[in-house]
Amino acid sequence: MTPHLFNPIILNAVELSNRIVVSPMCQYMANHGSATDWHLMHYGQLSMGAGGLLIFEATHVAPEGRISHRCLGLYSDDNETAIKRVVDFCRAYGVARLGVQLAHAGRKASVHTPMEGGKPLGPDEKPWITLGPSALPFTSGWPAPRALTAEDLAIVKQQFVDAAVRAARIGFDVVELHAGHGYLLHEFVSPISNQRDDEYGGSLENRMRFPLEVFEAVRAILPRGFACGARITGSDWIEGGITPDEMVQFASELKSRGCDFVDVTSGQIDPRQKIPFGPGYNVAFARRAKQEAGITAMSVGMITRAQQAEKIIASGDADMVAIARAAMDDPRWVWHAARELGAETGYPRNYQRCHPSVWQP
Ligand SMILES: Cc1cc2nc3c(=O)[nH]c(=O)nc-3n(C[C@H](O)[C@H](O)[C@H](O)COP(=O)(O)O)c2cc1C
Repeated sequence: MTPHLFNPIILNAVELSNRIVVSPMCQYMANHGSATDWHLMHYGQLSMGAGGLLIFEATHVAPEGRISHRCLGLYSDDNETAIKRVVDFCRAYGVARLGVQLAHAGRKASVHTPMEGGKPLGPDEKPWITLGPSALPFTSGWPAPRALTAEDLAIVKQQFVDAAVRAARIGFDVVELHAGHGYLLHEFVSPISNQRDDEYGGSLENRMRFPLEVFEAVRAILPRGFACGARITGSDWIEGGITPDEMVQFASELKSRGCDFVDVTSGQIDPRQKIPFGPGYNVAFARRAKQEAGITAMSVGMITRAQQAEKIIASGDADMVAIARAAMDDPRWVWHAARELGAETGYPRNYQRCHPSVWQP
């Protein structure tokens, strides 16, 4: 019997050959938002079979929506040409379906890359004014964002739509909106970062309004059959933040607007968070989204072993698992998991001779 992890799944009209997804991972190797040769290497190797779906890193919809100067973007013709080169490369040699995570970093933009410490850019480092639901900084020592006006909201929504149009034209199969990790769309949903007194703040209904409007606008322009999901947060892990109950309501609202899946992460809205890191620490959130909102759910976070992933899918806790660091550590994670669980998985023809059954005594 095929292990549950290796059963195909269909998101809208997009079929994935297995339940393993390579989670988006910023590479901080773009120039003015445009992908480089690094991305050819990084995504090229992962597209050979690290998962049924490979989601490209947070790809920002506006220059000021980038986390750092080195982040990937999809806001110009140059960005589109550069990322298309990577997608075409992956299509030519890889087997994975390809997704892109569209993002806006909100009040967490204009910082150094994590390799350089991740702190806000200094005055001589070409910083820019960040944007957020309210003029509340991420933490002390960080600049306060400019609170978005009604006019700004329309502009940002259009930036997401324009980037989604580009993503579809490039030939991605899946778009995932980033509404987690303390970035702009998450900042709207969380009471920690959203203290507006208009129709976009206050009640959960109001706080969800902008992300849902963005989702609807993006969904409306994507071609029929195109899969569109969202990375959402299961908990802010801080008093007064988003709760799992609120996450379930957000997932339900997304579903009713044609969302094909949620990818449930948690945390990163406030450094005072207390996250109980451990194997599969977000699995319970995916389970609740799946059971209570009735939406296809992906779990992410410290899912590192084949048996662990198989158990998550077999038990029905989640429909898919996303792996991040384990995939960077071992771009052949899926091949090794298949071997361990006794499943067949596709090898590119010219790599078939490396299968241990062919050459190992
Ligand atoms: C180098 C690196 C870059 C990341 N960049 C992103 C990103 O672009 N978008 C995102 O939603 N999460 C990002 N993450 C978080 C991962 O997608 C994932 O949620 C997290 O690492 C937990 O999964 P893991 O335990 O399998 O690594 C990043 C993680 C790493 C290690």
